[in-house]
Amino acid sequence: MSQLDSCFNIEDFRRLARKRLPRMIFDYLDGGADDEVTLGRNQSSFSKFQLMPRALRDVGNIDLTTTVLGQKVDLPVLISPTGQNRMFHHTGECAVARAAAKAGTIYALSSVSSTSIEDTASASDGPKWFQIYVWRNRDITKEFMDRCRENGYQALCLTVDLPVHGNRERDLRNHLTFPAAPTAKTIFDVLSHPRWLYDYLTSPAIEISNVTDSPSASFSDRKGLLDYITKQFDPTVNWDDVAWMIEQWDGPFLIKGIVNPEDARRAVEVGAHGIIVSNHGGRQLDFMPPPIEVLPDIVKAVAGRAEILLDSGVRRGTDVIKALALGATAVMIGRPYLYALAAGGEAGVDRMFDLLRAEIMRDMALLGCTKISDLTPEFIHRF
Ligand SMILES: Cc1cc2nc3c(=O)[nH]c(=O)nc-3n(C[C@H](O)[C@H](O)[C@H](O)COP(=O)(O)O)c2cc1C
Repeated sequence: MSQLDSCFNIEDFRRLARKRLPRMIFDYLDGGADDEVTLGRNQSSFSKFQLMPRALRDVGNIDLTTTVLGQKVDLPVLISPTGQNRMFHHTGECAVARAAAKAGTIYALSSVSSTSIEDTASASDGPKWFQIYVWRNRDITKEFMDRCRENGYQALCLTVDLPVHGNRERDLRNHLTFPAAPTAKTIFDVLSHPRWLYDYLTSPAIEISNVTDSPSASFSDRKGLLDYITKQFDPTVNWDDVAWMIEQWDGPFLIKGIVNPEDARRAVEVGAHGIIVSNHGGRQLDFMPPPIEVLPDIVKAVAGRAEILLDSGVRRGTDVIKALALGATAVMIGRPYLYALAAGGEAGVDRMFDLLRAEIMRDMALLGCTKISDLTPEFIHRF
């Protein structure tokens, strides 16, 4: 039995990822901001919602297909954008994109990915979104949109919870820097994970590929690249910039990182087609509320004028069901697929999708539901 076969849930993948990755890389993946209060609550808040099943319904045939912004998906779990996936496994974004395509779901590529818009597009023919920021240099922003259009990305997803970077103290303690600045501690850490180190040394250098490939970007060297990108995060971005971007893109557009119902209303008014209720997996402002807690108010504020997705803390089939019953069209996951990628590359992410699908199907049957549209607030019982 391989180690992957002994993973039966997301926490098992997490444990395996922790063994396989150098501590500083695992902590970058796993950690959150400040005291990690939001990080913890993202998961624990799901337990405030109980499920109230209906008995004696024919649940012989369960159908998990649904539609997200006009795209049919085979299960209501999408891939949230995460940067630098090749740090976690040398096959990185391409492996995840292929696994998502096999699972019949949407893959969202991060702006700061380690594989470019073009290479990720050719890795699979599955549906893809691109996560974007309003960069200080608007030419880069426009160039990214053009590259997405040329490469068949269906939707843009603008992340709005990162005007500046969150404070992640695990990274500071571990001396995690880009480019790497080895210390005795980090050298020991890496040497203790020979398998990861071998893959790292025998694979092409990890880059922030969309930027290194960009004709609009200008930087001197690898150190200069990070400074350049850090300066590109524009803290002055506001709703006018969002309106500008929606007009430029002229296609399906989502805003990611909203937890306030007023902002959700504003997002609809400015023309967004989708809202991703998210606190960036607890990596930005600590004490932001967990998305599952604010979802009902956001659903009320949006009143059917846009689709609502949710990420941050989704680990179980029951979490997916709760979010959908409370009004989300689908959920998205970040760390779960990164743990699975670190644990076993593409095969790991395949297994994660298989397990999640099986969990959701079993839980739907136990709840007395056969299709996604059956999931309504009547199945939720709050403490
Ligand atoms: C390692 C890591 C990198 C991330 N990078 C990005 C990113 O580049 N852009 C973005 O919008 N969100 C990013 N996120 C946030 C995810 O898109 C998502 O909101 C979050 O992971 C969801 O929470 P979960 O990890 O509990 O599923 C990142 C998250 C992690 C864990």
